[in-house]
Order: sequence, then C-alpha cells, then structure tokens
Amino acid sequence: MQFGSLTLKSNLFLSPLAGYTNLPFRLVVREVGGVGLCTTDLVNARSLIEKNPKAFKLIETSPADSPLAVQLFGSVAEEMRDAALMVEARGAVSVDINMGCPVKKVIKIGGGSAMMTELDKTAALVRGMVNAVKIPVTAKMRLGWDDDNLTAPDLARALEDAGVAAIFVHGRTREQGFGGTVNLAGIRKVVEAVKKIPVIGNGDIVTPQAAKMMLDETGCAGVSIGRGAFYDPWIFKRTLEYLKTCRRRREESLINSAAINETPHVVSYENNIGLPPEPPFSERVRVMCRHLDLMVEVFGEELGCRMFRKVAPWYAKRFGPCHEFNKKVVQVATKAQFHEILENYIRWRQQFLDERGELLPRFQQAPLVASFMREPDSSTRTHIPVPKGPVEVW
Ligand SMILES: Cc1cc2nc3c(=O)[nH]c(=O)nc-3n(C[C@H](O)[C@H](O)[C@H](O)COP(=O)(O)O)c2cc1C
Repeated sequence: MQFGSLTLKSNLFLSPLAGYTNLPFRLVVREVGGVGLCTTDLVNARSLIEKNPKAFKLIETSPADSPLAVQLFGSVAEEMRDAALMVEARGAVSVDINMGCPVKKVIKIGGGSAMMTELDKTAALVRGMVNAVKIPVTAKMRLGWDDDNLTAPDLARALEDAGVAAIFVHGRTREQGFGGTVNLAGIRKVVEAVKKIPVIGNGDIVTPQAAKMMLDETGCAGVSIGRGAFYDPWIFKRTLEYLKTCRRRREESLINSAAINETPHVVSYENNIGLPPEPPFSERVRVMCRHLDLMVEVFGEELGCRMFRKVAPWYAKRFGPCHEFNKKVVQVATKAQFHEILENYIRWRQQFLDERGELLPRFQQAPLVASFMREPDSSTRTHIPVPKGPVEVW
C-alpha cells in the first residue's frame, strides 16, 4: 500500500491509543508481524516545541520501531508546522493530525473534533504543514460531530485539496463516543468524497473477518486497529494471512466459474474458512513476557512494572479464567514478582484444562464481534472493552 512517498508492507495500521501505543507496545506488535504502519499516542505540538520531556518520551522510538507516524494535535498553524518539522527530523515517516479527539482539553484549544467544524481554518493549517515537510501528512477524524453533522466527507475532500496524503476515519460521530455501531456507509461516503488519496477505515475491528468486511463494504484502502490490537496483538498477522487466503480463493473461484460459466460464489464472513488459528496460551504468555521486558527497558523497572499493571489484564482476557492472575498482577512492582505471579497462575489454571492442556470447552471464550457484524438480537458478547484511562473523553 502506498501514500505520498511512502510504501508500506501491508494496509493494516495501528491506531493511536493515548497511554497505550507507546514504544514497547509498538515493538510487540511489529515483532508479532502484519502491521504496515504504527502511530504514536497523540502529542501536543506546543509541548514538543517547548521541549517538554513528557512529549519527547511520547515520540521515543528505536530502529526496530519503523515505519512510524507521529500524531500531533494543536490548532496554531505555526506550532503544528514546526512540530511536524521536528518529528520529520527525528525519523518519522509520516505525520498525522488529530482531528477526531473529543477530549475537552483538545477541543478547548480548537484541535481535535473542533477542527472538523472549521473547514477553511483547518485546510490552511494543513497546507502550512504539507508545504513545510517532505514526509506525507495525514489526518485522523471521526465521521462528524453528530448524526446531523456528518462533516467527514467534506473535510476529507478539503484536506485532500490542501495536500493531505491519506485520511483515517473512525466510523462514529463525536456524540457516539464508543457506543453504538460503527457506520460503514459513513466511511464509504468519505471514500467516495476523495479523488485519489487512500482512506483508512477504523472502528471496532476485533477479528480478521471484521477487517475484511470493513474493506469490502466501504471500499477503504486499509484498516486501522486500536483496541482490537491491544486485546490481541496477533490481529494484524492473522488478518493479513486471512486477506491473502480470501483473495486467492476469490481468484480461484473466478477462474473456476468462468470455466463452467457460473456466477462466482460470494465470500461469507460467518464461515471461518481460511481463518488462521488463534495463538495458543504459551504464545500469549511468551509475548506478554516480552512486552514486560520492553516496558522495563524503556521505562525502567519501577515505572515499567507499574504501567504493566494495566497491560497484563488485557493479555489475560484470552487466558480463560484469570481472576487469580488479575488480582495479583495489578499490584506488581518488579519483574521477579511478575514471574512468580505468572508461575503460580499457570499452576492454578491447570484445573480448567483437559488432558491435552487445552481449556475445557466451558471455559473457552468466543471471539469478540464487531458492532457492525452483530445480529440485531444476538446473544453474542457485545461489549468491546475500552482500556482504562479518560476513555469517556476519547
Ligand atoms: C484509550 C484510548 C486512547 C485513544 N487515544 C487516541 C489518540 O491519541 N489519538 C487518536 O486519534 N485517537 C485515539 N483514540 C481513538 C482510537 O485511535 C480509535 O479511533 C478508536 O478507539 C476506534 O478504533 P478501535 O475500535 O479499533 O479501538 C483512543 C481511543 C482509546 C480507547
């Protein structure tokens, strides 16, 4: 996949999740594989210019953390331009502008979702950045303020004219927060509004089938995954494999149908044909331990372990019964303590396993289902977890 001067290995993106998409997590996702481009948490442009150490920590990177986009927020054109120049000089391959953040402190200064309501001012700000840097400038937005103000198609087109190289769109309005259904038709309208730049769809992708459905139904060029990746860092790898298999099966079906003069069959999202298996428990544990090692490397043992208290329970969501693990891990202070907690948990967990070491059927969890794939009255688990933090404001 390509935008601006950038060629990416896949059309799968890691969405920014403030407080979570830090260097260790990005490295984990990259090591597992399948992701085309990772983005940092959003960074205040002014804080970067003022050389605030916290802002610099947010853009901390390493050679293995590539290709990397830095997401900026701010509403002062000169500050956004200068911050873009700074991140370009530090090796970012693209710079993303946050236009979809409904956090009060971001809206208050005219950034985030507020930008979606002021087209001309926003286009001028973007033009200043595009003219200043050589790397592509992208924009991330929601569909609009509310259902009566679905401004994303107009904004996307205005931004394309201002030189933006790609658009990321979360298929919900600001008013929706994280509730309700991701609006695929709304994303499609954005795809149709732009002339040639790629639009990347986002929202609720928790399985490879959901990624495929968003691509198929919206015509978007790629998908960006946030919570789904935190819940399951293997999602990119599995999605990439799944998409390849579906493409191959589709081509074979076209050839066969042409030979016998029949309509090719349509891919069904419900069947699991071509779906790579989920990682086993041992692999989940291996990657979780690697994540902790990286947290300690980047943040030091004390802070790294403290931060890992909110990370480990996300891995545990797919362990089967995990309360014994969670109640201890939320107090972890050292790496040695973490490994002791883990060993005790692995012993405790054996009571839920069959003779092959697999979870007994009644303890196995069904995969999450994206809002746009749910049956209206389905009994499937509907809630997609939202990480701890000021989520009511995202
Ligand atoms: C805890 C949290 C932090 C987020 N931080 C950011 C951010 O820094 N910048 C941004 O553009 N979006 C942010 N978002 C929105 C996500 O990037 C994404 O658009 C949204 O979560 C929907 O995608 P998902 O369902 O794949 O998570 C955040 C969302 C959450 C839950």
